[in-house]
Amino acid sequence: MKIYVAKHGGFCFGVKRAIRMASEASRDGHEVYSLGQLIHNPQVVEDLFKKGIITVDNLRRVKNKKVIIRSHGIHPAVLTMLRREKYDIIDATCPRVRRAQQFVEKLVREGYKVVIVGEKDHPEVQGLLGYAGGKAVIYSEKTTVRDKRVGIVPQTTIEISRLQHAVTRLIPEVLEMKIYNTICYETIHRLKEALNIVKKVDVMIVVGGKNSGNTTRLYEMCRAMKPSYHIESESEIKPRWFRKVRRVGITAGASTPREQVWQIAKYLRQLKTTLGRGRRAF
Ligand code: F3S
Repeated sequence: MKIYVAKHGGFCFGVKRAIRMASEASRDGHEVYSLGQLIHNPQVVEDLFKKGIITVDNLRRVKNKKVIIRSHGIHPAVLTMLRREKYDIIDATCPRVRRAQQFVEKLVREGYKVVIVGEKDHPEVQGLLGYAGGKAVIYSEKTTVRDKRVGIVPQTTIEISRLQHAVTRLIPEVLEMKIYNTICYETIHRLKEALNIVKKVDVMIVVGGKNSGNTTRLYEMCRAMKPSYHIESESEIKPRWFRKVRRVGITAGASTPREQVWQIAKYLRQLKTTLGRGRRAF
């Protein structure tokens, strides 16, 4: 059984940066509160908790006034309120997400109707909607635009095909279209590499939080091509997945630490040895 491990699996730049900022802020023994999980990965959230980085769902649970803004960014109304209430804000909004927010603001200023291509419940998209001040729509198959000037901004972690779909569908309806391609190149590399690996293997393992949007998308893409499994840890692996399997691929979402990927690869290598000794054990 040959094992292919994606080079682009593991934390993206924005997630690494957010974890570093949170860890630095909690180093002196202060608790740091994150509105929602800092990263969509249960093991990492647990480790962060031990370091004093605590996930809360509302500000009433913040005991000191130290709040970290996640890499996805935040709705500007919440940011304004935090500033007004004199919270100690650690802004870990990924600079690439911040860029998307600035493009949205610019389009609104210039009088374009903003169309956001992304998942409506994703915190990044909610933030982008906020920066449009209620003057944006989230693209869906049914979206029609009456405005003649339209500006398109995609969520940083979506597949480029979704942006292409929106552009192709809306362009006949408008006079002028401005497109900001804010899709993060880390997302593009990750998807491209996973696609290359999945073509070569019999089974694909996707590592990452079940609540992570980008990991789920990666899994959906792999699953459409080959038998694939989305796992958070090696304890979920079933040896029967690898019966008659000669090649296995491993990839991971942007919220999965590299060590977790290596741990899975190590486990599969051990399994490979056991499988080699005789299949009766499984
Ligand atoms: Fe930022 Fe790209 Fe990660 S936008 S949060 S570096 S996937």
